[in-house]
Formats: sequence, structure tokens, C-alpha cells
Amino acid sequence: MYYDTAKNDHGLPHSPFKAIVSPRPIGWISSRSSSGVVNLAPYSFFNAVNDAPPMVMFSSQGRKDSLKNIEDTGEFVCSLATQKLHQAMNLSSALVKSDVNEFVLSGLEAVDSIQVGPPRVAGTPAALECKLWKILELPSAAVDPDKRAYMVLGHVIGVFVDEQYVKDGMFCTADAGIIARMGYMDYCGVTAETTFTLNRPNVSEDGLTATVVPGPWDGVYR
Ligand SMILES: Cc1cc2nc3c(=O)[nH]c(=O)nc-3n(C[C@H](O)[C@H](O)[C@H](O)COP(=O)(O)O)c2cc1C
Repeated sequence: MYYDTAKNDHGLPHSPFKAIVSPRPIGWISSRSSSGVVNLAPYSFFNAVNDAPPMVMFSSQGRKDSLKNIEDTGEFVCSLATQKLHQAMNLSSALVKSDVNEFVLSGLEAVDSIQVGPPRVAGTPAALECKLWKILELPSAAVDPDKRAYMVLGHVIGVFVDEQYVKDGMFCTADAGIIARMGYMDYCGVTAETTFTLNRPNVSEDGLTATVVPGPWDGVYR
């Protein structure tokens, strides 16, 4: 099949787009309003977009509380969602009023961050403390600005890592039990069984061919 996104003529009950661009990491975004109310919500239009400096983005379908708080205060934290925390992560997505603290709603503890105001989720294996870089308004057919989409880009200025998940000097995503979003209401988890390693190709001196050394990582980024 093939469909034109302007017509959405896929003939399926739901758009397959998010199931195709899948799995997506979940940025569990905490922020604070200018009056100090703490907010927490999961965002799967989320990813890392740069390494040096480390930067992340998430996008808000509509002007949601996280976006408004970050516009006002310029700070947010992305905690990682895990198998253990998945029910709380889901509860924290409830469309409750802006003066509701979703840490309390979801039965989660908040842990103070080091360099920014919003706390991280207790029990998260890693969290990124971020300062707002830019907010981009994305193309949208909606006339009402509250219904348009916005991409929030942030500099990661500090990283919390729970050292129990550091093995042989590397953060072990599988041990941390990280979950990700697929399409519809589906999720998946990173496990040791589904994790595999590939060395990057070695290019020949003439630059015309490439070979890959099999086996465990040889420790070289190419
Ligand atoms: C796993 C998951 C991923 C989500 N991803 C997004 C997303 O990328 N963008 C978005 O606007 N809403 C997303 N949502 C819905 C928001 O979490 C929800 O609208 C929430 O109430 C927003 O909270 P806020 O107004 O406190 O920011 C997601 C929900 C779940 C459960």
C-alpha cells in the first residue's frame, strides 16, 4: 500500500505513522511553572539531536503545560521511563489541570536536580538536566495557536546516572529496563536478549571498499 499524507488515504482505522517510526524513546519531562508548581508528562516525540554539546528535543501537540512552563522558566529535566515505572509514567500523561503535580498524582517521589529547578523522577536510571535553547513552531493546519505543534530544543547541562547501571564503564540500557513507545497504545522494552553489537565498517586505504570486524565492540568509534 501507499498513502498520501495530505489525504491520509491509508484506509486503516488509525494512521500507521507512529507505528512505523518506532520505537521512540520516551522523554519523561519535568518542569516548573513560574509560580513553582511541578509538572511531569511523557513525550515520545523525543530524541537526542546533538552530541557536543548534548542536546535533546521534544514536541508538544498543542500548547501543553510542559511547553508553557519551559517558555516561562527555560528549564526542564528528562527522566528515563522504565519497565518498573511504566504504570506511573502512563498515569502522569493524564490531562489534569495545570495546578496538579503529576508526581503526586502518579505516586512518584521527586529528587532535586543539581543545576535546574525541576526535579527528576526517583528511581529513574538516568536523567538529563536541560536549559531551553529554542522553541520552534511546526507547520500545522490548525488556526488556533493552542492546537498547533511546537518543538522544544534544550541543551543538556547536567546528567544524573544511577551507577548501579554502569557496567564495564558503559551505561547498560538493558539492565536499566528502558521502555520505548511504538504505535497505538503499544510499548516495548530494551532487554539483553534483543541487544546486539556491530563494529562500524573499516574503510580500505583507497576508500572504495569496507569490511566489518565481527564479534564484540573493538572499542573504536569510527
Ligand atoms: C508514552 C506517551 C508519549 C506521549 N508523547 C507525547 C508527545 O510526544 N507529544 C505530546 O504532545 N503528547 C504526548 N503524550 C501525551 C502527553 O503526555 C499528555 O497530553 C500530557 O497530559 C501532557 O502533559 P502536560 O500538559 O503536563 O505537558 C504522550 C503520552 C504518553 C503516554
